[in-house]
This record gives sequence, structure tokens and C-alpha cells, in this order.
Amino acid sequence: GRVAVLAGGDSAERSVSLKSGAAVHQALRQLGLIAELVDPADSGVGTLKGFDVAFIALHGRGGEDGVIQGVLEHLGVPYTGSGVMASAIGMDKVRTKQLWKGAGLPTPDFYVDGISEVPATMGFPRMVKPSHEGSSIGMAKVDGEADLAAALAAARHYDSEVLVEAWVHGPEYTVAVVGDQALPAIRLKTPHAFYDFEAKYQATSTEYLCPAGLDDADEQALRELALRAFRVVGCRGWGRVDVMRDEQGQWQLLEVNTVPGMTDHSLVPMAAKAAGDDFATLVARILLEAMD
Ligand code: DAL
Ligand code: MG
Repeated sequence: GRVAVLAGGDSAERSVSLKSGAAVHQALRQLGLIAELVDPADSGVGTLKGFDVAFIALHGRGGEDGVIQGVLEHLGVPYTGSGVMASAIGMDKVRTKQLWKGAGLPTPDFYVDGISEVPATMGFPRMVKPSHEGSSIGMAKVDGEADLAAALAAARHYDSEVLVEAWVHGPEYTVAVVGDQALPAIRLKTPHAFYDFEAKYQATSTEYLCPAGLDDADEQALRELALRAFRVVGCRGWGRVDVMRDEQGQWQLLEVNTVPGMTDHSLVPMAAKAAGDDFATLVARILLEAMD
């Protein structure tokens, strides 16, 4: 069959998506499959009708949020990853956190600027995040009241809804999920104030630890939490759950990415490698999940 690799799009994460798509496309060809790169931003979605399956490598709005998933449902083309609803929720940090809270899963205290009350216990620092972005775009750490308004205004440039979250003092981890399996956790170490766009894609100072340096019980607990968090949102196929560990040793769920980065130095490929799967095998597994 013919595989469409959807990459590009017109979200703020377009450049990351083009890299993910190129890597996936190359892997599919290496596997001997007939694959074509399709950028829905310039070729339109009509061309998708002729494909047997779509590998979605679009990040951000329009590609990771249920929109393209809905189009593919309509066209009857099977696709990788989460369905319409879970994609829409996963792209929305506020609703994701509300679901997790409702399910009794740990996530940092938060409020939505202009909508909900500031929790009485919330001090500084705080994290300001556009609710529907990825790759840390528009995010800022705010150390005091004086800097809050400017950070909110900057985030509002990307999104009409802005989330303000309690700062978590502690390390950041991420857990990839493929099928019904959580892969080995990765610990992210950056000298930056947080794991921002530059730390993610440009800085040479970012360190990735996989294995993450946790003892067996903690590694197990983290993977189980990530899997539950993934399922509570209704995700399927594959994804990546970002988590921090606070000063009390408690895990704090940050978000789920339903189309995580797939560049050759992205995190899901790194975790797959630690589990014994090379990049092409990972791509094949994700594609097979789409045809279940
Ligand atoms: N949003 C980026 C692509 C990621 O989560 O990997
Ligand atoms: Mg994200």
C-alpha cells in the first residue's frame, strides 16, 4: 500500500514537523514501503484520498489537534496515533490537566488567565503557557508579579487562552508510549531555566539521560503513571507524556504530546533505542498500530 507522510502544515511548529516528516519518510522507504511526503498546507487534503494509510508527522494546531484526524476519518484513510477527541484534548493543556485532576492524577496547580481564580496558595515562580502550543513556544518562567503581565501578553500572541501553572522545583522526565507499552523514561537536563525551544532543538548544553537514573521502583511507577495519563486522555497508537518530579518526590504531569517529535535526535526515538528498537523499527511499530 501507499503511505502518506503528513508533514509541514502551518502551525508554529512547522519547521520541527518538516524534520520529523523527512526522517519518517526515509525510514519508511528503508523498510521498502511506498511513501510520499504530503504537506497539507500546500497540496490540500484532497490528495490524501488515494492513500492506504497516513503517518501523521504534523505538530501543533491543524495537525496534532484533531483537525487532520477528522479529515482522514471523513476520507476513510487510517492514520497513526490518537483519534479526533484525544488529539483535540492533548493539544489543549488546560483540558488535559482538568481530566487528569478529575481522575486523581497529579498535575501542578494552575489557573486560566482571565477565566479561573488564582489559587490562594500559588506564589512565584510561575510558568506561563499558551494552552494550545508545542515545543515550549510562547512559554515563560515568571519570577514575580512585576513580570506577569508581560509574559501573559507574550503568550496571548500565540493563543487566546493562557495557562498559568505553579513552578515545579525539580527535574523533568519524559515517557514515550507505543501501543500499550511505556518505553524507558528519559531525564532532560538543561542549564536553561526550563526546557525551552532553544534547549530542545538548538543548544548543545542539553543532556539526555536514558536510562534516566531512577531506581527500578521509581522507573516503574513513572512508566505506569505515564501510561495511565495517556489512557485517561483517550490516546492511542503512540505519544509522549512529559512529567516533572517536585521537591517532595511527587510526580507532576505536565502534558501529553500526541504527535511527538520524530527528528533523528528526538526523544521517542531515543527511548525506543534504549528498548532495543532502531528508528525504522519504531516507525514500523507506529504504522502497524494504525492498522489495528
Ligand atoms: N511538540 C514537539 C514536537 C514534541 O513534543 O516533541
Ligand atoms: Mg507539547
